[in-house]
Amino acid sequence: MRALASPAYGPLESLKIIDLPLPEPGPSQVRILVHASALNPADFKSVTGEAKILHARVFPMVVGFDFSGVVDALGKNVSGLDRGDEVFGHHPYGRATRLGAFAEYTLANATALAKKPAGITHTIAAASATAGLTALQSLRDIGKLASSGRVLVIGASGGVGSVAVGVALKLGARVTAICATHAVDFVKELGAEEVIDRLKVSPLQTASGPFNVVFDTAAASSWQASRHLIERGGAYVTTLPTLTFFRDKLASIVTPTRAHFVIVKPRTQDLDLLGSWIKHGLKVPIFQTVKIKDVAAGLKRLQSGSVRGRIAVDVAGGWD
Ligand SMILES: NC(=O)c1ccc[n+]([C@@H]2O[C@H](COP(=O)([O-])OP(=O)(O)OC[C@H]3O[C@@H](n4cnc5c(N)ncnc54)[C@H](OP(=O)(O)O)[C@@H]3O)[C@@H](O)[C@H]2O)c1
Repeated sequence: MRALASPAYGPLESLKIIDLPLPEPGPSQVRILVHASALNPADFKSVTGEAKILHARVFPMVVGFDFSGVVDALGKNVSGLDRGDEVFGHHPYGRATRLGAFAEYTLANATALAKKPAGITHTIAAASATAGLTALQSLRDIGKLASSGRVLVIGASGGVGSVAVGVALKLGARVTAICATHAVDFVKELGAEEVIDRLKVSPLQTASGPFNVVFDTAAASSWQASRHLIERGGAYVTTLPTLTFFRDKLASIVTPTRAHFVIVKPRTQDLDLLGSWIKHGLKVPIFQTVKIKDVAAGLKRLQSGSVRGRIAVDVAGGWD
């Protein structure tokens, strides 16, 4: 099979299309003919070696944490799935993911993916997985955001942030969003009731709390800097565990608010919920769809911070 792979940690230019043996599904795994994937910062962090814990250190390294495709082969002990089923999901961070989705075929644990609802494209399904799971698990499970709650989304134009706005709305919450000037109209269209342009004002002094959750998708702020905005019993949730975060986590223990860090997990029931929400209006904004051969360029664009929403990857039709 063909795969986009890097021979060692290095620059994004080292990503090349190569031939690899067709992978055989192990116990509890399925092999998936990949139709679509999407780009995440975890891809370039894995390739460059900036975050070695995000991916098994197996070379050539095939990254790609989002997938949507068709089950092609079943390993032992797989039940509830058949060849030909359309499925989508997120490859877990860490050593378990030895083969990502920037390949014609990928392997995934059958208990950690979901059937793709009919009527949703592979592109949208793939683009929803990592970002949607991160948003859902941060807001509902960690932040305990519930109906009528209020959330402040920092980084609301990004991959996680743009989907988080919609996830918060589906949870029945009200959203205040922070983004850069180029994305203000885009984030308003996602449904945020207030959008703060972080390049024009000091966003954490401008936002009017209290919020049940401050969701720092960009890991650009801190609990300390935003705690004046958090409701008693509320939470600051970040996507990156910086040194500041650990200092804040300790300090927050003796206060009425808490600092938390999310590690996204592939969970079937969460993917099922996201799939049904997408069928009923959850927006997964696609900024651009790139072919496999253009993944490095897409990742550079993602690194530049000029993307609004998600960059999807056309895997099935994108090799030439
Ligand atoms: N822990 C986990 O399980 C997990 C899961 C998924 C993602 N992540 C991490 O979460 C981070 C975000 O992922 P993503 O996919 O959303 O990335 P992304 O698409 O690049 O979005 C990040 C957004 O942050 C905003 N931003 C940049 N600098 C900022 C600043 N100084 N202040 C406020 N906002 C700023 C940018 O929007 P504006 O310029 O419009 O503000 C940008 O769109 C990445 O580091 C990723 O690795 C972690």
